Amino acid sequence: MSRLLFGSFKPQYQRHFNRSAIRLFTNAQQYDALVIGAYTDGKNVVLPAAKDITSATQSRLTEQLIVSNFKKAGDVRILYNIGGVQQVAVVSLGPVPSTSNKTNPITRRAQVLETARNATALGIQALKERQVKTVGVDISVSGHGAAEGAILAQFSFDKLKMEKSRQAEMQVLPFSTTTDDNDQDDLNWESGHIYGTSQNLARMLMTSPSNLMTPKLFSEEVAYLLAGLENTEVIVHDEEWAAKLNMNSFLSVAKGSQEPLRFLEIRYNGGHPDEKPYALVGKGVTFDAGGISLKPSNNMALMKGDMGGAATVAGAMYGIIKMGLPVNVVAVTPLCENMPDGKATKPGDVIKAMNGKSIEVIDTDAEGRLILADALYYLSSTYSPRSIIDLATLTGAMDVALGEVHAGVFTNSNELWRQLNVAGELVSDPFWRMPLHKGYLKEMQQSTVADFNNLGKGRSGGACSAAAFLKEFVAGLESDNDQDKEHHQDSVDWAHIDIAGVMDSQTTQGYHIKGMSGRPTRALIEYIRLGSNDQ
Ligand code: BES
Ligand code: ZN
Ligand code: ZN
Repeated sequence: MSRLLFGSFKPQYQRHFNRSAIRLFTNAQQYDALVIGAYTDGKNVVLPAAKDITSATQSRLTEQLIVSNFKKAGDVRILYNIGGVQQVAVVSLGPVPSTSNKTNPITRRAQVLETARNATALGIQALKERQVKTVGVDISVSGHGAAEGAILAQFSFDKLKMEKSRQAEMQVLPFSTTTDDNDQDDLNWESGHIYGTSQNLARMLMTSPSNLMTPKLFSEEVAYLLAGLENTEVIVHDEEWAAKLNMNSFLSVAKGSQEPLRFLEIRYNGGHPDEKPYALVGKGVTFDAGGISLKPSNNMALMKGDMGGAATVAGAMYGIIKMGLPVNVVAVTPLCENMPDGKATKPGDVIKAMNGKSIEVIDTDAEGRLILADALYYLSSTYSPRSIIDLATLTGAMDVALGEVHAGVFTNSNELWRQLNVAGELVSDPFWRMPLHKGYLKEMQQSTVADFNNLGKGRSGGACSAAAFLKEFVAGLESDNDQDKEHHQDSVDWAHIDIAGVMDSQTTQGYHIKGMSGRPTRALIEYIRLGSNDQ
């Protein structure tokens, strides 16, 4: 497990903790500002970082906070020039949590992490635009959560703006010497840094406009980000390769675009060579105009984020690799644009997918399932993975059903559902289980000319029929494959996650930033980390 100490991040960590007798308000680190948490009921203030704060400073802080009516969780007060620090952002953590053992331990752990994550993010938000260069962060509740909050709250995509309107960079470091992070958990400031950075990476990829994030540029960017990392191979396949493998379903979507398609394959070999890999698939439509079934123009700009599946998979791979998790993972992302053109696929056209099944393309805007069909089949037939998870901004119906709180999970495995559910809860990027049922496939089997049509009932149960369609392209899970019904056991655990609803955030609040969300990148890393602990 020593690899879990994250080699490259270790120096910074040690530098911090080797410093003896850190006293917060003597400010030996020369921080411009601090973010600290405080439990309060409005009358009393309890500072979890008290050990690092001289008692004189503690009383000054408490006095100021009470006067300012500092109470409910999330309240932020900036206090100036205290104990030699110019600006101190104090964030309320609400009342001291009760130590009841009734709450389930996962929920309790999730609450601790979220308290640190959210409070730190609120403190960082308050310090933004205040010209601070170095910020010390209280890690006494959780170093992992605090780092996630600090990194996520700093995200901004302003590299295309004039220099003067760009957000100034801040350097964020832990300052308190105690942390309640559960040691056996392998989580700390460094891991939180990695989790946050991974999601920011996904945000960056999703936010980039489609003219600057074409299939080619996406694969180059990811290859660059992962270049030189241990046990990692990045392979960028082109159209010729896809054609050789008969990925006609994927090719049919890319046809209407001037931009050449790419099929990105990332292999991470952190585990024993004999161990089955985890498999990830991400929908990578770098712009979805709808094709010949053209989308209406309002909000079409949002469709630059239709590669959110690919972005979160790439972000998660970065995190998994940086964490040095002792597992094997293979990830693929089919990347293309969906455009109207003289050469584009037309409604009614029939294509034959890589697995030999024919599809009548009734609606060219239901393109996600077409590119995933070949990617899922490629992955499930080439490797024998221990699980396959695909992520896709697949249906508007998913947004209608669950909005931006939960991402919907469709899976054939109760165990995989349980694991994803725990992972989502721990990182506060939650999932909700949706039905995977062949009843939703019926309308799509009514084509008079092909094995399937790609539309089904359209809006009615749209997210569920898309999921049922995808299952037909996972090797071993096709509905005409349950030869022996009674003893039938699915050959692979598969989950489809529809992230259309959580693709973007309407507002900035703590570590949620308005715009493309990069969700559920951290949940994917956590799922694989927890799986690697079980072995
Ligand atoms: N990329 C869209 C789904 C989407 C919608 C993602 C809103 C994020 C936000 C997808 O390719 C699509 O167009 N789906 C259609 C499917 C329909 C034609 C069966 C939809 O949801 O309307
Ligand atoms: Zn579409
Ligand atoms: Zn789409």
